[in-house]
Amino acid sequence: MTTSGKPLSVAVIGAGMAGRSHAAGYRNVNTVFGAGLPPVRLAAIADANVALGEDAARRYGFEKALPSWEAVVEDPTIDAVSIVVGNALHRPIAEALVAAGKHVLCEKPLAGSLEDARAMAELERSADVVTAVGYTFRRSPGIAGIRDHVQRGELGDLTLFSGRYWCDYATDPRGPLSWRFKGGAGSGALGDVGSHIIDAAEYVAGPIVSVSGASLSTQIPKRPLPLGAVVGHNAAPVSDEFGEVENEDTASFTARFESGLVGTFSVTRTGFGLPNGLAFDVLGVGGRAAFDQHRPAEYLFDDAQPDARTRGARQVIVGPHLPYFAGGVPMEAAGVGANNADNFTYQTRAFLDQVAGVAEPLPACATFADALRTMEIIQAVVDSSRNGGAAVAVPPVV
Ligand SMILES: NC(=O)c1ccc[n+]([C@@H]2O[C@H](COP(=O)([O-])OP(=O)(O)OC[C@H]3O[C@@H](n4cnc5c(N)ncnc54)[C@H](O)[C@@H]3O)[C@@H](O)[C@H]2O)c1
Repeated sequence: MTTSGKPLSVAVIGAGMAGRSHAAGYRNVNTVFGAGLPPVRLAAIADANVALGEDAARRYGFEKALPSWEAVVEDPTIDAVSIVVGNALHRPIAEALVAAGKHVLCEKPLAGSLEDARAMAELERSADVVTAVGYTFRRSPGIAGIRDHVQRGELGDLTLFSGRYWCDYATDPRGPLSWRFKGGAGSGALGDVGSHIIDAAEYVAGPIVSVSGASLSTQIPKRPLPLGAVVGHNAAPVSDEFGEVENEDTASFTARFESGLVGTFSVTRTGFGLPNGLAFDVLGVGGRAAFDQHRPAEYLFDDAQPDARTRGARQVIVGPHLPYFAGGVPMEAAGVGANNADNFTYQTRAFLDQVAGVAEPLPACATFADALRTMEIIQAVVDSSRNGGAAVAVPPVV
């Protein structure tokens, strides 16, 4: 199928905020990096909100919109599928797709519950299709560049990782009670944005072995029921009736890494004025680096020059010396910027490289097992918060 040059047929389930990012990614996969990937057929976008699906199919050049995820499962011409709907739906859709022999790129967090995530990791063990998860920040050239500094030992022994993901999408109390506010502790800010900063932390600094000092809070305990469809974090018409927010708006915790490094983390969805504030500092005895998603085309790097007159971090401009950027943007020059949408292109390309078995693939996507691990860490954070901040061990890397 894939090595013969026959087109690879792809579909996206979910035409919301992130579904459109996957659709744009598939549209662009053959515009980046080397040859070797077969042509990609943009077969279908499925969404229960038919108008939204049709609009996305038109915008991104997909052949058709389908009204349900089941219709994707039943289409024998489709090879590879992104699951980009609310987390509680990930497991049933992944199970049906894998049973139908389709490759799966599932959005993070892996599932709506730890039980579902464990079942999906189990499914992965016996699956003979690619099963991947969308940790997009691994594809950020700046974050990949910082990881290179760490792995080359350019920061010396690490002393502290301080990470945060501060967002403002839930600051408005009139914001609708969407799927994001349902599910138990750990499925709120921790699952939605905390999963990204935890994955980025392990990507840069290695495995976390325990967490402690956790605290969760919910600033807005009730929200109005939506009167119709809600897309992503958007405002929507709401009823006068309110429902309960079932998960956390904010959380903080500390972590210990396998290397002995300590980490501090905080996440929120009720942080005023911060649309997409994933940021971290990684400090070592011989250097430090810092990244902020609000300035994704640069990062700070300091290798502790001894001259006091020039002491301080320098701004490293993202450019073709970094992973992904070379061959990954049309104007391949430092300073042209770095775009979150490009990260989705790199991610879908990496997924299809795996599916097609290309000779020189991009680094593989996170697996279901990797994403289960992130959920185990989140569960440990929840358990720590329930036990007065006690240290809770994280299951070891499989
Ligand atoms: N990697 C990232 O940067 C990133 C960013 C945002 C969201 N996400 C993840 O992507 C997923 C989707 O989030 P979103 O913000 O795009 O959600 P969203 O609410 O904007 O979109 C979800 C879509 O799913 C559709 N849907 C619901 N039930 C359906 C069904 N039974 N069949 C078909 N379609 C159905 C809805 O109509 C909606 O359009 C989540 O898992 C989220 O965590 C990842």
